[in-house]
Amino acid sequence: MKKILLTGGAGFIGSHLVRLMVSKYPDYHIYNLDKLTYAGNLENLTDIEKSPNYSFIKGDIVDTDFINQLFDSHQFDSVIHLAAESHVDRSIVSPMDFIYTNIIGTVNLLNAAKNIWKNDLSQHIFYHVSTDEVYGSLGDEGFFYETTSYDPRSPYSASKASSDHLVSAYYHTYHLPILMSNCSNNYGAYQFPEKLIPLAINNIKNKRPIPIYGDGKYTRDWLWVNDHVQAIDTIFHKGTIGETYNIGGHNEWKNIDLINLLCSIMDKKLGRRAGESAELITFVKDRAGHDRRYAIDASKIQRELEWKPSIQFEEGLEHTVDWYLANETWLNNVTSGNYQNYYQQQYSER
Ligand code: NAD
Ligand code: TYD
Repeated sequence: MKKILLTGGAGFIGSHLVRLMVSKYPDYHIYNLDKLTYAGNLENLTDIEKSPNYSFIKGDIVDTDFINQLFDSHQFDSVIHLAAESHVDRSIVSPMDFIYTNIIGTVNLLNAAKNIWKNDLSQHIFYHVSTDEVYGSLGDEGFFYETTSYDPRSPYSASKASSDHLVSAYYHTYHLPILMSNCSNNYGAYQFPEKLIPLAINNIKNKRPIPIYGDGKYTRDWLWVNDHVQAIDTIFHKGTIGETYNIGGHNEWKNIDLINLLCSIMDKKLGRRAGESAELITFVKDRAGHDRRYAIDASKIQRELEWKPSIQFEEGLEHTVDWYLANETWLNNVTSGNYQNYYQQQYSER
């Protein structure tokens, strides 16, 4: 049985990936290593937590001794690394959390893998999951390619860029068998409501203002999380060692257009008058260093590995709204307590 260490599996994307790997590959044992920060939530995994090929390990990737001992005792065959601090606004307030987890944590994992695999590097994979934000900000035209120079502008994207460079350096210097992917913005079930879509769903549901930063014309390229984890599965099994793959849905939306679409979907679902939810839209002070536009060219993964997104955005967004409305307890649990303090700090002065 192959032992796969998956880090950050209690988070948004990680929990979808754990579910996919545990159910699709009974001959893999999936070890989910997660610190359970505010973003990590074992409630995301209740449906698979008793599976015989799944184990949860609570721990911090920044703790070097713990990571070395864990790799020594478990002798993982491969690593899929998602654990990270992931929210740009938090990185502006607390950059050091991002430096520790995203950079030091990644290097700890690289060193531990290099150490246990040193006598035979074949048959192993260190897969690093990253973001398109490392490429910086686009104007009205153009796309991010795998060859686009890195130009990160937030502490979050700079810390992810740094980790990407280190992963690449370990491939070139030590021949560590790496794979890497850079994906555009994800949306779907189990996303923590600090990110735009679930935050807006929660606020619309509760008839609270929907905060739109700046002029609302910032553009993101949205991909359904289920399609992202299918892409990770594809790359993990079919990707060429040492390569990077961009993942995206060719699905650009200006924030204001996306929120208007979301409002109209929610008016229908909640039996509200057409246009009622859009009245909650409130333009607020812009994010510092706000990247104007992201757009991924995903033709390499489509051409070489035959992956493509499975659904249109409108359909995925509707599934997402349905999930949040059906999972009120989950939403209430994650928005009680510390979330209220976070929200107050982020939005009271905007
Ligand atoms: P998330 O914030 O929802 O989850 C992160 C998980 O990592 C949480 O479970 C958290 O508890 C865990 N974690 C944080 N610090 C840790 C530490 N020091 N040790 C162990 N575990 C720790 O993030 P997400 O949105 O699921 O993103 C997962 C990965 O995908 C990240 O690497 C992110 O950069 C990348 N990514 C995200 C998106 C997106 O749109 N969300 C897009 C592209 C790439
Ligand atoms: P976010 O979901 O934080 O993802 P990222 O910054 O990683 O792309 O934000 C998506 C877009 O929505 C981004 O342009 C910032 C904007 N935004 C708002 O306008 N209001 C909000 O309250 C949030 C959280 C984001």
